[in-house]
Amino acid sequence: MIFVTGGAGFIGANFVLDWLAQSDESVLNYDKLTYAGNLNNLASLNNDARHVFVKGDINDSAHLCGLFFEYQPRAIIHFAAESHVDRSIVGPAAFVTTNVNGTFGLLEAARTYWQSLEGEDKDNFRFLHISTDEVYGTLSADDAAFSETTAYAPNSPYSATKAASDHLVRAYHHTYGLPVLTTNCSNNYGPYHFPEKLIPLMITNARAGKDLPVYGDGLQVRDWLYVKDHCSAIRRVLEAGRLGETYNVGGWNEQTNLSVVHTLCELLDELQPKAHGSYKDQIKHITDRPGHDRRYAIDARKIERELGWKPQETFSTGLRKTLEWYLANDDWTKQVQSGEYLKWVALQYEDEEQA
Ligand code: NAD
Ligand code: DAU
Repeated sequence: MIFVTGGAGFIGANFVLDWLAQSDESVLNYDKLTYAGNLNNLASLNNDARHVFVKGDINDSAHLCGLFFEYQPRAIIHFAAESHVDRSIVGPAAFVTTNVNGTFGLLEAARTYWQSLEGEDKDNFRFLHISTDEVYGTLSADDAAFSETTAYAPNSPYSATKAASDHLVRAYHHTYGLPVLTTNCSNNYGPYHFPEKLIPLMITNARAGKDLPVYGDGLQVRDWLYVKDHCSAIRRVLEAGRLGETYNVGGWNEQTNLSVVHTLCELLDELQPKAHGSYKDQIKHITDRPGHDRRYAIDARKIERELGWKPQETFSTGLRKTLEWYLANDDWTKQVQSGEYLKWVALQYEDEEQA
C-alpha cells in the first residue's frame, strides 16, 4: 500500500480518488482534519476497503512509526501542510509547527521504518515530498521561469516553511540515504478546492452576489495547473523519478489574476446568467497582500524530458470543468463554509472598506 499524508485536503483528496480509480493498491490516508481537511471529499470511498483513514498529526512520530510497521507501505506521499499564504501572514506559528516540525517528525518516522526494511523492500521504498514553486520567490515580467536549479528565495511565512521542509527532505537523502523525491508545483485549481483560495473564492462569492476581492492592481501572475494533471505528475514521479531529484510541475499557463477573474465571470455569465449585467460588475480592488509575489512561472521541461509528463488540460477546458463541478456541488460548498470559514472571511475581508 501507499501512505498519504494530508489526503483529506484539496490536492491530497483528488490524488487519493484518482489513485483508487486507476489502481487496486490500497491507500492509508493520514490527516489531522484541520479546517482544510474534509472527509466529504472522499465520500465516494465510504465502504471501500482500499481506503483506510487515520486521523493524526504528522508531528506525532510515534503514531506514524506504529502505522508504518503495521501497514508496511512501499511509499509515503507527503501532502500535509498549512497551505494558505494569507493565513501564514496572519498567523505564521501553525505553519512552522506543521510544515517544518511536522515534516521533521514524518521524516524521522520514515527513516526508522525504512532502515528496518531489507532487500527489495528497502530498495524500492520512496518518500515523495509535495512542495511548491513559491520556494523560488518572485519573478519580474521578463525573467526566465523557475527551473530546478533556481536559487531558493521564499518571501512569505508559508513559502519559507515549505522551503525549510524541502531542505530537510534533501538532507535526509544526503545524510541517511532515505530514498526521497520532491516535486515543486505551481498553482492548482479544480474540484474540492477550499473557497479561501482565489478561484473557488471568486466562484462562491460571485454566485452569492458578493464582491470579488482582487488584491492591488490584480496584475500578479500565476501559472495555473488543473489538479488532475498534478496528480498524474505525482504518479509518474513516484513511478520513475530519479532518487534525490526535484521535479518542477507546471501548466505552461501564466495568467494575471484579473484575467483569471474575468474569464471566470464570462463563464458564469454563460452558464448561470444574472438577471441584469455581468458578474464582472462585482469585481472590487482591495488592499494588496503584504509582500505579494508578483509573478510565478514554472519551467516544466525536466519532467517532460526525463519522465515524459505533460499537462493534458488547457486552462479553458479545466476552468469550465471546475466551474461545472462547483455548480453541481452546492452541498459541498455549504458544508465547508462552516463557522471556521466564516471567522476567516470576517478577519481577512470584512474590514476592507471597498470589499
Ligand atoms: P490543503 O490546505 O487543501 O490541505 C492540507 C491537508 O493537510 C488538510 O487535509 C489538512 O487537514 C492536512 N493537515 C494539515 N496539518 C496537518 C498535520 N499537522 N498533520 C496531518 N495533516 C495535516 O492543501 P493543498 O492545497 O491540498 O496542498 C497540498 C500540498 O501541496 C501542500 O503541501 C502544499 O504546500 C502543496 N502545494 C499546493 C499547491 C496549491 O495550489 N494548492 C501548489 C503547490 C504545492
Ligand atoms: O504557487 C503555488 C501556491 O499556490 C501553493 O503553494 C499554495 O499552497 C496555494 O495557496 C497557492 O498560493 P497563492 O498565494 O498563489 O494562491 P491564492 O489562491 O491564495 O492566490 C492566488 C493569487 O490571487 C495571488 O496573487 C493572490 C490573489 N488573490 C487571492 C485571494 C484569496 C486575490 O487577488 N484575492 C483574494 O481574495
